Amino acid sequence: MRKIVIAGNWKMYKTQADAVAFLQGFMPHLNDIADDREVVLCVPFTALVGMSQSLHGSLIRLGAQNVHWETAGAYTGEVAAPMLTELGVRYVIVGHSERRQYFGETDETVNLRLKAAQTAGLTPILCVGETKQQRDTGETESVIFSQLENALNGIDQTNLVVAYEPIWAIGTGDTCESAEANRVVGLMRAQLTNPDVPIQYGGSVKPDNVDEIMQQPEIDGALVGGASLQPNSFARIVNFSARR
Ligand code: PGA
Repeated sequence: MRKIVIAGNWKMYKTQADAVAFLQGFMPHLNDIADDREVVLCVPFTALVGMSQSLHGSLIRLGAQNVHWETAGAYTGEVAAPMLTELGVRYVIVGHSERRQYFGETDETVNLRLKAAQTAGLTPILCVGETKQQRDTGETESVIFSQLENALNGIDQTNLVVAYEPIWAIGTGDTCESAEANRVVGLMRAQLTNPDVPIQYGGSVKPDNVDEIMQQPEIDGALVGGASLQPNSFARIVNFSARR
């Protein structure tokens, strides 16, 4: 059975003090989190040390938002996989559209980062998705298949999560219709060699749409940006009530 993975992506939000305050509000909601789901918080690098201590012994897994492909070196501003695993980090987002759009991430660097993450024992969350223009011109499938094929070249699909994140739905409140997200995720699954890879949906997932999204049979979780910043809303999301 495919694992359900609900991951918060804090992006460039929250100081260490903010992260502590978040956990104080969030943890009390997690008493009876269903054991069929994995909850991950992908926090800024600066919050990892504190979060690693605070989450020790909890059910929440720690995630980072990027990783370099070398284990060490002259790469100013980058972070290497051993620096993450030392802190107990288990997951890392790779190839988020904001990295691709603003920081020159390409399918080739995404592939290198995926390999480095897996070599270090991290589980990468690979993000793929089309722009509004690509969707409007009927290129959704070809764009996503090409991103998958290039990123997954030589990648072990037994230690992998994939996220379908239509770029036009990220941070816009304009969620992809759940049946359409389900359709695209099903097509993505058919491109994989391992059909058990969890495939998340991401893009304006909120407390009021998470149940419908998680009812979709192909969707195995959510990658949540804005709504993961508030303890109550992220708690509602991880405690989604839909059952497959
Ligand atoms: P959003 O972001 O939930 O704020 O749309 C999702 C993401 O970027 O992963």
